[in-house]
Amino acid sequence: IDKESFQNDLIDWFEAEQRNLPWRENKDPYRVWVSEIMLQQTRVDTVIPYFNRFIEWFPTLDDFAEADEEKILKAWEGLGYYSRVRNLHSAVKEVKETYNSVVPDSPEEISKLKGVGPYTAGAILSIAYGKPEPAVDGNVMRVLSRILVIDEDIAKPKTRKTFEKAVRALISHENPSAFNQALMELGALICTPGKPACLLCPVQKHCQAFAAGIQTELPVKIQK
Ligand code: ADE
Repeated sequence: IDKESFQNDLIDWFEAEQRNLPWRENKDPYRVWVSEIMLQQTRVDTVIPYFNRFIEWFPTLDDFAEADEEKILKAWEGLGYYSRVRNLHSAVKEVKETYNSVVPDSPEEISKLKGVGPYTAGAILSIAYGKPEPAVDGNVMRVLSRILVIDEDIAKPKTRKTFEKAVRALISHENPSAFNQALMELGALICTPGKPACLLCPVQKHCQAFAAGIQTELPVKIQK
């Protein structure tokens, strides 16, 4: 793969075609964090109104840190998986107390926060802080499994590491935020699970699965 050409094609497409999503209005690490936690088990269309109300109720990290349990649960009501918001609240209080209300920008420190796994850490570090860190979720694994023909079973926990290595090898150091979000956006809009829209794909010429005609066979996911 021609890395520079791939990065340019991917990022140019993202800059032109990305959806207007409320968490893309600015790069406040707290807002990026809230959005990524909400998006983990919930679809974009469902998250949008919850995110907007959440930010109205708790505009800053300190507002959320100081909020009472009842209001927090009310803000999350209907999203489900309430451990997400309990962990988020505990981690945000930790950031206020230990880091002076500044979300840490190192992989080591950010990963210690409750509820911040490798995906969330990478998303915050790249989107909010511009660090060239991978943010690998199911969408990103699908996209890269096709572009690079990676046939490891994505249901296996250790497979994520293979994809993190692939992202590290390919990510734009000039614009890690756009690069990671472009992979997510491509997975949401073009490189979809059922029938990918390869004829509209901005990186079709880089896609090894398309060249071999095996894009619908990937990713490999073995039922547990
Ligand atoms: N899914 C997970 N993170 C996302 C983001 N930042 N934008 C759109 N969809 C996402």
